[in-house]
Amino acid sequence: MNEATRRPARAGRRIPEPFRIKMVEAIRQTNEPERRAALDAAGLNPFLLRSEDVYIDLMTDSGTGAMSDAQWGALMRGDEAYAGSRSFYRLAETVEQMFGYPYTIPTHQGRGAEQILFPELVARRGSSQPVFLSNYHFDTTKAHVEIAGARALNVLTPEALDTSTYYDWKGNFDLAALEAQIESLGAAHIAGIIATITCNSAGGQPVSMANLRAASEIARRHAIPMVIDAARFAENAWFIREREAGYEGVAIGDIVREMFGYGDMFTMSAKKDGLVNIGGLCCFRSDTELFRAVQVRCVPLEGFVTYGGLTGRDMEALATGLREGIELAWLDYRIAQVAYLGERLRAGGVPIQYPTGGHAVFVDARKMLPHIPPEHFPGHALACELYLQGGVRAVEIGSLMLGRNPATGAQEPSEFELMRLTIPRRVYTNDHMDYIADALLAVNARAGAIRGLEFTYEPPVLRHFMARLRWRQGD
Ligand code: F0G
Repeated sequence: MNEATRRPARAGRRIPEPFRIKMVEAIRQTNEPERRAALDAAGLNPFLLRSEDVYIDLMTDSGTGAMSDAQWGALMRGDEAYAGSRSFYRLAETVEQMFGYPYTIPTHQGRGAEQILFPELVARRGSSQPVFLSNYHFDTTKAHVEIAGARALNVLTPEALDTSTYYDWKGNFDLAALEAQIESLGAAHIAGIIATITCNSAGGQPVSMANLRAASEIARRHAIPMVIDAARFAENAWFIREREAGYEGVAIGDIVREMFGYGDMFTMSAKKDGLVNIGGLCCFRSDTELFRAVQVRCVPLEGFVTYGGLTGRDMEALATGLREGIELAWLDYRIAQVAYLGERLRAGGVPIQYPTGGHAVFVDARKMLPHIPPEHFPGHALACELYLQGGVRAVEIGSLMLGRNPATGAQEPSEFELMRLTIPRRVYTNDHMDYIADALLAVNARAGAIRGLEFTYEPPVLRHFMARLRWRQGD
């Protein structure tokens, strides 16, 4: 489906909140001098701000959502047994019913699942040069691939790099590149193919069912395990229903079942579409040998296999949240809210990754601030200005995050210079979206005067979290 034939109902239209609000948390608006002082104290790094100094926090959609009354009610049913908790069985049954995977290991969050699974996949392959191939590895996923001694290579569809041109499936695998990598590296060295749904790094962009099916066929033909990184599985299913021929009107639950049928196992950060503040999953469809081996790794790293770092009540909230996460009225609203923010920005001339994805609007800072070169971090400069303008906290996805090549010390060339406005689930209303858009449009009006940044402290690794910076004088 293309832009013209896509159902118009969702294109930037506001859908009223499909919930009413039972509890509120006050947030404090600050004035400009207060924000300037807070940002200076944070070394011009929004990661180092106190959340109390932030009016609207769009740093991440991970663990920042609001639980429902049903989830808060479920907390009271938590069975805190160390082993064999009733809450574990309820979670495992939910996973089996929803995804068709009978073997579940709970973990404390997504990276907990990654740290117990990837070393086992590498060990099984027995290659001296193991590699994982993905449409795009999320940064902790890449880190855990590397900790497990493997390389992380991305084979993302090239349409994703052109932010301004509409394409339905900017999260897709480049299937020809996937085949070519397997041919050139040799299937025996590929420890796994990781399908990230939706593809966070490309802008929360969906993977089509056809692409997932084809990637899975390639994996099976070469006897390579297919792993689904399922953090935003429900949003991906919604896009398939919305855009892919043959899926219009199909229940989200049925689409989810089919998607997961193309994987052999999945890791999930449940802090996104699982609608909980903490939690993760590592689940298997049929490989009981691998399941047992990963269980063995789970015990010392995450905890005993029926709790994996979670309390019984966490598992209850997750079992409930997984089901709420696939409700159509919720997803219609959720994705329309993100699209609405995106459309307002586009209408005001702000360049974004288009169309918007599921969980965030990604602003193209390279285009918005063309006078700031990558090494002076246009995405991060924009995030600082947006905070100063309106107390809105966003996050850079670009050169600052990517960092230097450890071997040469040179700045890695980044495919993107983006600022991510990540929308927490069930937390902010459509009115908040207008506030955010107004603030960013005000920044856009003075874009030419925004300066680049330079380090006053550059940490050796994962520098974006702890870096301290100052405005450059020359730019
Ligand atoms: N996979 C994807 C696609 C993710 O987006 C994340 C987290 C993870 C795995 C790791 O999960 O945080 O529960 O350990 N993404 C967050 C974000 C942090 O802000 O995008 P985790």
